[in-house]
Amino acid sequence: MAELRPNVLPVGVNDWDRRLFDELIPLPDGTSYNAFLIKGSEKAALLDTVDPAKTTRLIENLLRAGAEKVDYVISHHAEQDHSGAIPDILMFYPDAKVVTNPRCKDMLIDHLGIEEEKFITVEDGETLTLGDKTLKFIYIPWVHWPETMATYLVEDKILFPCDFFGAHLASSGLFVEHEPTVYEAAKRYYAEIMMPFRSAIKKNLEKIADLEIDMIASSHGPIYNNPGFILDAYKDWVGDDVKNEAVVAYVSMHDSTRKMVEHFTGALIERGISVRQINLVNVDIGKLAVALVDAATIVIGSPTVLVGAHPLAAQAAILANALRPKARFATIIGSYGWGGRMVEQLTGMLSNLKAELIEPVLVKGCPGDEHFADLDDLAQEILARHQEEGIVD
Ligand code: FEO
Repeated sequence: MAELRPNVLPVGVNDWDRRLFDELIPLPDGTSYNAFLIKGSEKAALLDTVDPAKTTRLIENLLRAGAEKVDYVISHHAEQDHSGAIPDILMFYPDAKVVTNPRCKDMLIDHLGIEEEKFITVEDGETLTLGDKTLKFIYIPWVHWPETMATYLVEDKILFPCDFFGAHLASSGLFVEHEPTVYEAAKRYYAEIMMPFRSAIKKNLEKIADLEIDMIASSHGPIYNNPGFILDAYKDWVGDDVKNEAVVAYVSMHDSTRKMVEHFTGALIERGISVRQINLVNVDIGKLAVALVDAATIVIGSPTVLVGAHPLAAQAAILANALRPKARFATIIGSYGWGGRMVEQLTGMLSNLKAELIEPVLVKGCPGDEHFADLDDLAQEILARHQEEGIVD
């Protein structure tokens, strides 16, 4: 069986077929639930488990890894894809104790009904010896739940940060083999799951900055044996800088909004602004989330339906609002037949964003030359704002 280092074994499971997480997040490349067995000279620890649907595979892997006993189950995070198999593991290894922080312990009791006496709680920075291997626990709250912690394997310089730095990517290779592929998956994961907690992630990056790290073994995706690759990517994503980009997310019913969007996208590109134009019909919301990571400006295009925004435009606004990207500007373009409150409705849905709203362009019916001129003016206004903010190179 492969090892990360001597007596550090991967026992997690790939889920090649899973296509949705939380019945919301698309998984185009499946995912993995990574778990690790660390066999010290005196004690053995299992770091995290797997989604309950894969419990049998986890136990098979533990047996293949020679885990005659497990003394400790280290639970970094109470979400089911890492903790859901703990009750079965405790039945299989009845002497094992669950090692976690007090907050995670409470959540595991709430969600899984694990008995109180099964737990050992640890403080931030506390260590646990397995004999010749030492586990150091580091609290990393809000990546993406409040109770999350990491384990640093001192002698082997491996960081096990659970979801932090993860990527939904099933992979036959243990380690990152092709960095651009993993970069895309990790950025998608950051966008969908971590971006709302950008400030907390910055603090956690600072917290681990002084650790000597040879490997990062997250709970999803391949292991980073070049940790600088993902650490640098995260520093870029969580940094305050935005790029000279606009996301134009739109839906159109009778082509008026589509004609506006196509003209507007062209006007932005002519002015040197990169555009991600995203039709919201059957959209992969992961693509929309990724586009939001770096963009300086968010544009929502919508027709008016039943006096309000088209539901797909409303969904995009709700998603952007929940993900809290660092965009500096937002605006709305769209059309209506006889009236409505589409703009008010959409702007009300973007209340979490710190972006400044630039005056929208609305058209009654089909857009004509004067409306295209208005869209040119809006593109010029966005360029001017980007220039004022020093976003344009
Ligand atoms: Fe991979 Fe937050 O669970």
